[in-house]
Amino acid sequence: MISLKGEKETVDFGEKISSLLKDGVTLALVGDLGSGKTTLSKAIIHSLTGIEDIPSPTFNIVNEYNANAKTIYHFDFYRLEEESELYGIGFDDYLSNKKAIIIIEWADKFESSLPKNYLKFKFTKYDDARDVEIISVGKKYMSIADEIENLLK
Ligand SMILES: Nc1ncnc2c1ncn2[C@@H]1O[C@H](COP(=O)(O)OP(=O)(O)O)[C@@H](O)[C@H]1O
Ligand SMILES: [Mg+2]
Repeated sequence: MISLKGEKETVDFGEKISSLLKDGVTLALVGDLGSGKTTLSKAIIHSLTGIEDIPSPTFNIVNEYNANAKTIYHFDFYRLEEESELYGIGFDDYLSNKKAIIIIEWADKFESSLPKNYLKFKFTKYDDARDVEIISVGKKYMSIADEIENLLK
């Protein structure tokens, strides 16, 4: 478990872990509204692509970034009501790009549609801090989960 005290520590954390994120990995960001999912997403996307303007995907469900030889799909499932809506947005097509890094806020809404292997970031919100637990679902990214946990020790 990682404890982040203040927004800057969330941003620094995102920058630090970005180099560990292999092409093709999916990050499932889970936690209450305002727990830091978008803050962490932006830090990772900015660090990997150099892009500055990174809006929350809450309204358009998915934003795509191509820069610095990286492709990142940034999803937010918050406004989706039915799992079947994932077909409408072509979620499977995004997943089939095995080189893309996929970041999904509120991923736990449709857990059965997620790939077999992914990294889950579970946020807990406190007044002035956030805890983040990193869980490898499936075996493929277990070593990255360990590396991330060890990074801040
Ligand atoms: N480690 C932290 N400690 C305290 N506040 C934080 C921390 N990380 C982010 N925040 C703040 O919490 C809010 C998180 O918002 P956001 O990232 O949009 O959350 P979410 O996408 O989970 O709804 C922002 O106001 C941000 O400044
Ligand atoms: Mg958000």
